[in-house]
Parts: sequence; structure tokens; C-alpha cells
Amino acid sequence: MLALAFASAPAAHCAERPQAAIASAHPLATAAGHEILTRGGNAFDAAVAVAAVLAVVEPYASGLGGGGLWLLHRAADGRQVMVDARETAPAGAKPELYVDGSGKPIRAATTRGGTAAAIPGAPAALVHVAARYGALPLAASLTPAIRHARDGFQVDVRFARIAALRERLLRDNAEASRIFLDGDRAPQAGWRLRQADLAATLELLAREGNAGFYDGPVGSALVESVNRAGGVWRLSDLAAYRVIERAPLRFQYRGASVTTAALPSAGGVALAQCLQMLERFETGDARAPREAHLVVEALRRAFRDRSVHLGDPDFVAVPMERLVSKAYATERAATIDPGAATRSEVPEREPRGIGSTHTTHLSAVDAAGNRVAATLTINLIFGSGIVARGTGVLLNNEMDDFTVRAGVPNAFRLRGGEANAIAPGKRPLSSMTPTFVEDEKGVLVLGAPGGSRIVSQVALAVLDYVHMSAVDLAAIVGAPRYHHQWWPDRVEVEPGAFSPTWRAALEAKGHRVEPAPRRWGNMQAVFRSNQTGTAHAASDPRGAD
Ligand code: DON
Repeated sequence: MLALAFASAPAAHCAERPQAAIASAHPLATAAGHEILTRGGNAFDAAVAVAAVLAVVEPYASGLGGGGLWLLHRAADGRQVMVDARETAPAGAKPELYVDGSGKPIRAATTRGGTAAAIPGAPAALVHVAARYGALPLAASLTPAIRHARDGFQVDVRFARIAALRERLLRDNAEASRIFLDGDRAPQAGWRLRQADLAATLELLAREGNAGFYDGPVGSALVESVNRAGGVWRLSDLAAYRVIERAPLRFQYRGASVTTAALPSAGGVALAQCLQMLERFETGDARAPREAHLVVEALRRAFRDRSVHLGDPDFVAVPMERLVSKAYATERAATIDPGAATRSEVPEREPRGIGSTHTTHLSAVDAAGNRVAATLTINLIFGSGIVARGTGVLLNNEMDDFTVRAGVPNAFRLRGGEANAIAPGKRPLSSMTPTFVEDEKGVLVLGAPGGSRIVSQVALAVLDYVHMSAVDLAAIVGAPRYHHQWWPDRVEVEPGAFSPTWRAALEAKGHRVEPAPRRWGNMQAVFRSNQTGTAHAASDPRGAD
């Protein structure tokens, strides 16, 4: 029995006493996971199927041209691992490609066209997770995605609205325009999106594994198209791509065991720092102004450390042990004044944001107790806008997650340092924070898109979960959100979510409170209760916004 959830119809199919559960951002993806479980697949096969369908039906958010972080728990032996399928900078990537003659970063170089795209990790993750952890062949788990790509599916209002936002980007690339636009306009809801080339690429991947994507005709087409759009890819970059199995980050928060993303995600580090700082205070309701202030101060400190210390651990030395230790959290928490906001240092000038962006997340548990939390991305909406000719593969713009110049913010206004500088073969820092929380109540599996706001979303959800005696999953994913990321020095709040009194209480402590134009995130969570043995799924109501 299975509990299913997806953004457009939260908790639509809840079987009685389900032992497996899947939450994803799209009903077709969640249904694909269900199909694979009923065909004898485990949670890993189901997650492969869900991720592959998301690549087809949410091409603006994730896809074969992107990457992701997969947090896995194997029930048979308790093995927990993070499959790091983060994109890598190509060997030809030099910092000089991204700055002008005076050393000023060229924004478009990391966000559009060939220089923006890093070597994709998503296909290798599908191959790896299926081969190493799945019970079914990759070809079986890819079947639903191939079907939806080949036969097409009706795009929803969300797709139509997002495509309209990026109509120009899509129009600039002949392949992207041919595939994703209706004529030369963004399609209306109900339009049928058929992706025959992507179906063929998925079939090659199903048949040949990594060689079907990183070599042969697909590999050559990727290199040719990226370089025609100004990139510097080589076939050897693709051949060299490997997913990396890393030990996840683990810490305790008030008796709950939290397992989360390791570097190159900065998200898990920030989550560990933030929650362990908060452990030093009395907490219970993270939305109460007194506590919101503490959460904001903890986030401020964690994001500050990110900008100074964090980068790809295979390239830079990061003092991880200290950064995520209880002792360091105590030291940092001691600098938090419960009555007043700390000032983030004033930078030269405030940058402008880039608007809303996308990524996706899936959470799954099966009856055996296997779990997956996978956050998948091509970075900004429709990534770099390049579809490699004849492949249907839309490439990421993950190079923007690097720090082009110290102190100069990226699309998420994140200001990094030397540790996250561009280098050949390096993986850019991420905020993706797939997470498991285990306590006496059961196991929570969660994650979300939202760039830097992923961290605060997951932190608030973990705080809510730990402080709830009876788990209300829908309340956790639906609860109002606020965010702080050290710089810009302001508390961002979802519009209409907090009262004027709440706002005044934070302002009285010295915070600048700014309502965002839109709500953010699209959290996908599943929970398996120890008490009843049943599993539940919940999708963020914001997914239907
Ligand atoms: O890895 C990261 O942190 C970003 N590339 C994720 C982008 C994202 O979540 C956009 N979502 N709204």
C-alpha cells in the first residue's frame, strides 16, 4: 500500500495504512514511482523513475542536463550515503572566461549560453542508483519517462506560466524553441509537449548506461552544441564525469538524529550549524517572534561561514569537523543577543536579485524501509537555455553557483569566497539539502527547491517536526516561511504570512523585514510512523501556486 502526494493535488491518493510513500512535484512523476513499486521495484528504483519523469515533465527545473544530490538509506544494512551527482566545471573553465577586461564578473557568462553549463551528473546518478541500489534494471525504471517523452503530456498552468517567464531565453535557442514553444510563443495550459529526441536519449541511457549519454552521438552533440553557444567543453570532460558516494553529514538535534547533505552542498552544513546553535536556547515554536529572531541569527551566522569557508572538499581544505561541532555551535550561539539583531558587515553595494527560480525534490520510502531524498536541478528556470541538437537535453547553468569574484553575489545573492572559485573539474557549492530526521516518532524524509532559501525551509521544517508531538505532515510543508542568508541583511518573509505585530516585534530587535513578492519553495516530504508503521506523503501547497 502506498501514500502518494504531488504538488498539484496534495494527498490525493492516500491508501489505507500505506507502508510506502512518495512525494514529488508532479502527479505523473509520483505515479511513475507508484508504477515501479507495484512492478517489484524498491524505493531506489521508484526514485529513479520519479526523477526521470520529472526530467521530462518539469524540464524547467531538473533534467538529464543537470545534476542533483541523492540521500539514500538502505534498510538491509542501514547504509546511508549521499550520491553526489553535482555538475563539474569543464577542464577548459577558467575564471577569466567569466570576467571582463577590468575583472568585473559578466553575469550572463554564468547564467546563459555555453559558458554557463557545467558537465551534467543527472544521467550518471540514474545509472548509479539503479545499478548499485535498485532491484530492477534501469531500463524498467526509465520506462515511464520514455513513454511521457515520446507520447507527450499536457502541460499544466504552472508549466505555461514558467515558460512565459523564459520565453525569450527559449526563443534564442533553435532547439529549445522548437521543443518548448508553441510556434514562437510560450504554450498555453493543455498544450501537448512531445520530446521525441529526449525519449531517444533516455532509451540510449537505458540500453547503454553512461556510455549512452557521456559518449557516442549524444556526447558529441552535447559538446558541439555547448561550444557553438560559446562553451569550452571537450569529450574528455564527459568521459571523466563520475558520481561520488560521500558520507552524509550527521548530527543530533534535541535527541533527533539528522542525516543531511555533505559538501559540496553548503545546505547540510548550514542546517547542522543553525540547529545546533538553536539547541542552546529554549525553543518550541519557530514562528513566534522571539524564536524567529533566534533562527534568523543562527541562519545569519551559518551563511556567513558558508561564504568564508565552503567549497568543493576535493579542491579546498574545509574545517568541517570544527564547523559542525557542538563546541563551535556553542561558541557561535554565545554571540547571539536574544534582544537585538547582529549587523551583517556592510558590503560595497547591494545587488539586484534575479527573480524566481526552480529546482525539484522527491522523497520516497518503501515497505522495506529504504529511503530516498533527492534534490535535482538545472539551476535557474530552463537552465542555460541550450538544448543540445538532436538530444532533447536542456543544459544547466550551474556555473552560476560558483563564486566568480569574492564578494560578488550570484543569482541567489549569495556572496562566496575563494573556496568556491571556479576551477577545472570542480563542483560548485550547492544549497540543496535532502534530509532524513529520525526520532522516537519515526522517520521524516524531506527536501525542497529554492536556492539559498532551501536551507531555511528545511531548518524550519525540522524545527516544526521535532517540536510536534503528533506529526502533521501537511502542516509542516505548508507552514509560513521566513529567511535570512547573512547578506542581504534582511529577513525575507512570505507575503501575507506574518502579522504586523510579528513584523514589529522583529523590527524592534533591529531586523529589516521585507515581504517577498511570492511564496517560495515546493517541499516534498514523507513520514513513516514508528507507532503505526504507516507512511504518509505531503506536497507543498505552493507547488500549485
Ligand atoms: O544547487 C543549488 O543550490 C542551486 N543550483 C539550486 C537552485 C534552486 O534551488 C532553484 N530553485 N528555486
